[in-house]
Amino acid sequence: MIVMGVESSCDETGVGIVRWNDDGTTTLLADEVASSVDEHARYGGVVPEVASRAHLEAIVPTMRRARAAAGIDRPDAVAVTIGPGLAGALLVGVAAAKAYAAAWDLPFYAVNHLGGHVAVDTLEHGPMPPCVALLVSGGHTHLLSVPDLGAPIVELGTTVDDAAGEAFDKVARLLGLGFPGGPALDVAAAQGDPTAIAFPRGMTGPRDARHDFSFSGLKTAVARHVERCEREGVPVNVADVAASFQEAVADVLTMKAVRACGDTGVDTLVLGGGATANSRIRALAEERCAAADITLRVPRPRLCTDNGVMIATLAAHLIAAGAPPSELTVATDPGMSV
Ligand code: KG4
Ligand code: ZN
Repeated sequence: MIVMGVESSCDETGVGIVRWNDDGTTTLLADEVASSVDEHARYGGVVPEVASRAHLEAIVPTMRRARAAAGIDRPDAVAVTIGPGLAGALLVGVAAAKAYAAAWDLPFYAVNHLGGHVAVDTLEHGPMPPCVALLVSGGHTHLLSVPDLGAPIVELGTTVDDAAGEAFDKVARLLGLGFPGGPALDVAAAQGDPTAIAFPRGMTGPRDARHDFSFSGLKTAVARHVERCEREGVPVNVADVAASFQEAVADVLTMKAVRACGDTGVDTLVLGGGATANSRIRALAEERCAAADITLRVPRPRLCTDNGVMIATLAAHLIAAGAPPSELTVATDPGMSV
């Protein structure tokens, strides 16, 4: 069975094609992504209207490129992200995927973007045991309990304010490192002292929800620090601020992820989302998982960021588990949880 997945929830137009094998593995046949990230850079963040227009321009050529790369005429099923994501951006991918499915009379599957971030790991590391997934990107920060990719996923926790990647981008901007600033902040932090400034660890107190996150207090603490330096005429040590901020984020994310594994009784942690490219988040996750006897699975960076392959892979698991196709009248769900 060959599945085409379409993704347009944020600023990446992705079309991926995978084959579901009888032994329960999936094989990647095509992974085409067109990004509008450069068009958003001058605004310092993703502009929904700009993203929607870019999807509209890119969606059909990206579908064509993916089919050509996979060497197929047409897939056996079509899947698309219906949420969560930007309302106008989602509409483009969903309309295109529906049109394709209707034109070729193919089964159509509307799937959840977050589940896709988890499922994509099977392409690299094979069938997935029950696990906890930590998703961190510019748009989301979630801890999920995943008993089985063919069954419903349970949300354990999410951010109550900013997403982790968003906090990276906002702090990078404050430090004059550009957009998206996460990668630049990672580089700057390598030269700094992570213990230089004791930034707060949000929602780690005894009365806080165990699996939720908060990064706005940390972001404000960085802003106050920079303001204080300016007021006192002291130059901001960008490397130390970046390293101390990054340490606070990595500390909270990995501590809560390992705790979630313990609470749900699983020994596998899967990371997903663009911010898992962060060197400190990866290193601390490795260190803490090793100490807690947890197997850590992190897909390669290309698969961690938004793409169509993750949607095709999740749909393949759902189809194999006997999920019925979606109606072609299904609506998008921008605020969808899992
Ligand atoms: O998954 P993604 O490509 O797009 C969505 O947001 O959905 O993730 C992009 C996010 C941005 O916020 C970017 O700054 C962050 O991931 N990011 C990083 C790093 N690489 C990307 N954050 C910290 N360190 C990095 N090395
Ligand atoms: Zn995503």
